[in-house]
Amino acid sequence: MTARLVGVGVGPGDPDLVTVKAVKVLRGADLVLVPTLDVGAAGRAERTVRAHIDHERLQRVPFALNERTDRARREAAWDAAGALVAAAFTAGATTVAFATIGDPNVYSSFSYLAATVRGLVPGVEVSTVPGITAMQQLAAATGVPLVEGEETLTLYPLTAGLQGYREALRRSDCVVAYKGGRHLPGVVEVLRERGRLDAAVVGTDLGLPGQSVVKASDVDADLPYLSTVLVPPASRTRGGRL
Ligand SMILES: C[S@@+](CC[C@H](N)C(=O)[O-])C[C@H]1O[C@@H](n2cnc3c(N)ncnc32)[C@H](O)[C@@H]1O
Repeated sequence: MTARLVGVGVGPGDPDLVTVKAVKVLRGADLVLVPTLDVGAAGRAERTVRAHIDHERLQRVPFALNERTDRARREAAWDAAGALVAAAFTAGATTVAFATIGDPNVYSSFSYLAATVRGLVPGVEVSTVPGITAMQQLAAATGVPLVEGEETLTLYPLTAGLQGYREALRRSDCVVAYKGGRHLPGVVEVLRERGRLDAAVVGTDLGLPGQSVVKASDVDADLPYLSTVLVPPASRTRGGRL
């Protein structure tokens, strides 16, 4: 039997934003792994998944998601998660699912897990089930279309620095920034400098009961890691960029 590893996107956190296909794959898997920073506490993906599946087949895997400085610690976490998947296949599992917030192909730890498992389990079949991203939830929450006609869109990780963010704002019509909670005051400065502050919004804990969406101009301190900044195209007329 072919061993199958499936990365399942479970959306930003609202159980109603998990796709029917994701639920089918999660329910059919022999083992469902959920990433967590702390094995003693349920992470975002787990809380979302638990709305849809039995808990006996669910297991937490520590992933040092926010570990940016200690590469060895990060890699040890990927190795341990990969070994756990390989052991599950050896013990007879045919399908292991890894639930990840948003989409598994957008800045997800699933990519690292898949690379590790490919190295450990020859012939493993790796696939993904797309999920709704935080960026889409923020557009829905604000009622601002991300792009229309010939407008361009950039998704920028703020961990890559503010200079690259400036360039993205110059090159692209709509710019969405991830991984920026700790950089928010600097982001606000750049938006002011580029004349894009007034229209920019920041969404935190999107898709959750505590979801907050505020104007970037009202932000004067760091925000949590799960925050997303949306800068819509500078000017729009109906159908103007078709
Ligand atoms: C490692 S990336 C994961 C992206 C995810 N795979 C996706 O497709 O949306 C983490 C970043 O995604 C954004 N993010 C994910 N979920 C979010 C949420 N519920 N609310 C706000 N931002 C979120 C934040 O910018 C966060 O820093």
